[in-house]
Amino acid sequence: MLPQNPPKHLLFLFLVLTFFTYCFGTYQENPHAILEQDKKMSSKPVFSSFSKLVRHGNTSTTVSSSNIIQINVDDFGAKANGTDDSEAFKKAWDKACSSNETANIVVPENKTYLLKPVTFSGPCQSDLTFQINGTIVAPGDMREYEDDRSYWIVFDNVQKLGVNGGGTIDGNGREWWENSCKINKSNPCEDGPTAVTFNECNNLIVSNLGFKNAQQMHLRFESCINVSAVNLTVTAPGNSPNTDGIHVTGTQNIIIRNCVIGTGDDCISIVDGSRNVKATNITCGPGHGISIGSLGANNSEAEVSGVSVDRAKLSGTTNGVRIKTWQGGSGYAKNITFKNIIMKNVSNPIIINQNYCEKDVPCPPEQKSAVQVSNVIYKNITGTSATEVAVNFNCSRTFPCQGIQLQGINLEYEENETDIADCVNVQLTDIGNVYPRCN
Ligand SMILES: *[C@@H]1O[C@H](CO)[C@@H](O)[C@H](O)[C@H]1NC(C)=O
Ligand SMILES: *[C@@H]1O[C@H](CO)[C@@H](O)[C@H](O)[C@H]1NC(C)=O
Ligand SMILES: *[C@@H]1O[C@H](CO)[C@@H](O)[C@H](O)[C@H]1NC(C)=O
Ligand SMILES: *[C@@H]1O[C@H](CO)[C@@H](O)[C@H](O)[C@H]1NC(C)=O
Ligand SMILES: *[C@@H]1O[C@H](CO)[C@@H](O)[C@H](O)[C@H]1NC(C)=O
Ligand SMILES: *[C@@H]1O[C@H](CO)[C@@H](O)[C@H](O)[C@H]1NC(C)=O
Ligand SMILES: *[C@@H]1O[C@H](CO)[C@@H](O)[C@H](O)[C@H]1NC(C)=O
Ligand SMILES: *[C@@H]1O[C@H](CO)[C@@H](O)[C@H](O)[C@H]1NC(C)=O
Ligand SMILES: *[C@@H]1O[C@H](CO)[C@@H](O)[C@H](O)[C@H]1NC(C)=O
Ligand SMILES: *[C@@H]1O[C@H](CO)[C@@H](O)[C@H](O)[C@H]1NC(C)=O
Ligand SMILES: *[C@@H]1O[C@H](CO)[C@@H](O)[C@H](O)[C@H]1NC(C)=O
Ligand SMILES: *[C@@H]1O[C@H](CO)[C@@H](O)[C@H](O)[C@H]1NC(C)=O
Repeated sequence: MLPQNPPKHLLFLFLVLTFFTYCFGTYQENPHAILEQDKKMSSKPVFSSFSKLVRHGNTSTTVSSSNIIQINVDDFGAKANGTDDSEAFKKAWDKACSSNETANIVVPENKTYLLKPVTFSGPCQSDLTFQINGTIVAPGDMREYEDDRSYWIVFDNVQKLGVNGGGTIDGNGREWWENSCKINKSNPCEDGPTAVTFNECNNLIVSNLGFKNAQQMHLRFESCINVSAVNLTVTAPGNSPNTDGIHVTGTQNIIIRNCVIGTGDDCISIVDGSRNVKATNITCGPGHGISIGSLGANNSEAEVSGVSVDRAKLSGTTNGVRIKTWQGGSGYAKNITFKNIIMKNVSNPIIINQNYCEKDVPCPPEQKSAVQVSNVIYKNITGTSATEVAVNFNCSRTFPCQGIQLQGINLEYEENETDIADCVNVQLTDIGNVYPRCN
């Protein structure tokens, strides 16, 4: 690409142009929704190669790959032939993680790598990317998870990580579904593995990947700060139990953007300790919708605030936008906005349930304490409901829902276009056209 020995000023110009094109291109892609750290991180490799090249005055390195060490899992013994490749992946990880320069782990395209449960741990010496161009598949046999039934792939305590590449992560979960207590009632209810868990990963970008057929949840962000989850597709059968798409717990500053999610449970679930969660341009269905909760199970305290869901399309889901809390809990869910949402044949398009209780466990008698739900805005939500009750606020007597605002709501029952709002213990304001309305 570059001439062999270009004059220094030309090289400099080239680098500057490349740099500006890169940054400006990023800016144009989505001028509003990119998080600050999104920009910082994606330009980081360019930044470091830029400054290093200038410092060294070295003309022999190409801009695109300079100073990013490429680490191919095949070079560490990965076979992609159906035998377990997790040891090879761990070796590649260890090499990348201990590198003092930005490293990129490559999982080659057109190949399928079988990984047994594996943890990729930090902290690492420098920024890392995990470029999954190919497919990673889990073992089908549940016995492979004897050590820990809760996890398949874990990234733990890795800072400034990027995971991308256009490839697929396949949880191969059929055996887990068949043996779930929700499918086979004679089995006990036990946890199953989350396909991919990010624990305590700050400044993380997960982008351009497909996830499918997870054992239970597909993606879990736990105790992370500054996360972008962009351009992801998540797919599992509508009847696969507990296969949430993206689960957010104890995580702050996360943006979930341009994702297409269809599974057997919540498309997105947001639980205790999560703050500043933005979900934008989400397509959801089949599944249980976009959910805050459940919160406050077993008399626990839960705090969720600053959630915004903007531009979502939900089709055929059992809920639309939902807040669910158990009786007896404490804490709050507040500062929540759901706007610009289209519902198509959704069973409970708008629902707050402060008396949530799973049917397969006996529900306790009415309890006084509750997770307080307040400042929830519903704006520009239209489409069709699969049930007659399109809006349902079932709030607690002792802690009514407060500051609930509806604006520009038009939801019609599929059957006959006539539906109702069922509202208990809720303090609300309607602005402009709202249908159906609470009495
Ligand atoms: C998160 O991003 C913000 C803004 O870019 C930055 O100031 C902050 O230090 C980041 N937090 C962590 C834990 O890295
Ligand atoms: C500079 O070029 C030399 C010779 O081509 C090469 O050995 C060296 O690794 C380069 N240094 C950097 C920092 O790229
Ligand atoms: C996969 O490759 C390894 C190493 O070459 C070999 O030992 C093993 O038999 C192969 N497995 C299959 C299923 O082909
Ligand atoms: C990385 O480590 C190598 C060998 O240990 C050393 O030569 C090199 O200068 C280091 N690079 C940086 C950027 O620290
Ligand atoms: C991967 O498969 C595609 C489509 O068959 C092909 O165009 C491409 O060259 C393959 N890549 C490699 C590295 O084999
Ligand atoms: C592999 O992933 C990289 C990084 O996302 C991407 O630029 C490249 O196009 C991908 N290659 C293929 C063949 O998908
Ligand atoms: C349900 O699980 C029990 C106990 O694990 C097993 O014996 C039975 O065959 C299963 N039933 C079906 C329909 O898979
Ligand atoms: C998401 O996908 C769009 C369209 O393919 C692309 O322009 C954009 O760069 C992607 N975003 C990221 C963060 O990779
Ligand atoms: C919304 O997300 C979809 C699916 O990723 C993508 O095709 C589309 O371009 C996105 N729309 C905008 C305006 O970014
Ligand atoms: C909730 O929003 C109000 C007004 O926008 C703000 O003052 C308050 O700090 C927010 N609280 C939380 C916990 O986000
Ligand atoms: C309402 O939301 C829909 C779907 O996102 C959007 O196309 C439309 O422009 C929004 N209307 C207003 C008035 O914002
Ligand atoms: C619409 O259907 C529901 C449920 O079948 C029924 O209760 C209601 O009376 C119907 N409304 C009209 C206007 O037909």
